[in-house]
Amino acid sequence: MAVIHKLAISQFRNLNQQYIEPGSQLNLFIANNAQGKTSLIEAIYYLGHNRSFKTKSLKELIQLNHRQFQLDAKVDNYRIKLEKSKQKTCIDIDQLRLKNSSALSKILPIQIITPDKGFIVNGTPKNKRSYLDWGVFHVEPEFLTDFKKYNKALKNINILLSQQKIEELDNWFLEISQLSTNINIARNNYITELKRINSCEILDNLSDLFKSINTFDYEFKSGWPKEVDAYNTDSIYHYLLKNKSYLLKTKYLNYGPHKASLKFYLNKQEECFLSRGEQKMLSIIFWLTQVSMLVKNNIHPVVLIDDISSELDNIKIKTILNYLQQLNIQIFMTDIGINSLQIESENTSVFTIENGVITRQ
Ligand SMILES: Nc1ncnc2c1ncn2[C@@H]1O[C@H](COP(=O)(O)OP(=O)(O)O)[C@@H](O)[C@H]1O
Ligand SMILES: [Mg+2]
Repeated sequence: MAVIHKLAISQFRNLNQQYIEPGSQLNLFIANNAQGKTSLIEAIYYLGHNRSFKTKSLKELIQLNHRQFQLDAKVDNYRIKLEKSKQKTCIDIDQLRLKNSSALSKILPIQIITPDKGFIVNGTPKNKRSYLDWGVFHVEPEFLTDFKKYNKALKNINILLSQQKIEELDNWFLEISQLSTNINIARNNYITELKRINSCEILDNLSDLFKSINTFDYEFKSGWPKEVDAYNTDSIYHYLLKNKSYLLKTKYLNYGPHKASLKFYLNKQEECFLSRGEQKMLSIIFWLTQVSMLVKNNIHPVVLIDDISSELDNIKIKTILNYLQQLNIQIFMTDIGINSLQIESENTSVFTIENGVITRQ
């Protein structure tokens, strides 16, 4: 079970050097606007992903007039230290320097629920893939290796296409067909399993969010055209060979796992026709189902919830929190006022944030 027992933050956004000891269940951070709520959520997210969900620019994350930020945490029995400046990135786990950040996400799996990252239902394909792959990666670690190889193969194919180098293409076509098949199968298995969880139990528990007469459904789109069997290497390979001259004209491979998506439906109606409220609720149900599935696979992610009290009423927020609490996971949630939420104090650690300073109540 991933639990952040200790967290030291230094010069991250408006958060000065400080140290907190979060509780192992619900942690509530209360502050007015512009005090540092999202900054704290972003710092924890950064620790698990080695990137932000808000910006690609490091300059925005490092506190003004400083040259680096540092995050240092005790997660279960691991010590994670992440230091970032314009010149270098250092990630240490138990004082061992990491070459890449995938070990981070294993030790600290994080699911985030916030309008800032965009809702998944009616969201961009990129955002859909990001949530989907987060789940696949955790239940099937091999996925990441295939995914990296796929991106390399795609890059090579696009270079060959733009340089019109026909001779070398076939080998890369075969390679990308095999990797595509692996990725498609992993993603599709994950979605099938997720739908099984979704339909049997989660909706009953979340009846305050969702009327049980409604049917919530989603479908995996592999990124290949309909005529291709996306789970069969030969079918993908033959499609690429058949369309070689077309691809040499377009100079870019416009099909494949990098174009995959999810399609959501409520009562058979497509996601784009749903109200913003429905899109938001279904997105949250999807994320909670993902968390549920990880828990079933014995991985307890940390859940971050930012800025949703402006989006949801108290009953809905309480339903979400009750659901997460019975899964026995650590939660970090921000809000602008404690009175509005009326949360039972047992099992809850309350903090305030004022001008970037976090204080335990
Ligand atoms: N790199 C930075 N250095 C110093 N302050 C920053 C930096 N980036 C953002 N801020 C400031 O941090 C404050 C808190 O922002 P945020 O955490 O988003 O607030 P909120 O509590 O509303 O979620 C804001 O006033 C913002 O301008
Ligand atoms: Mg905020």
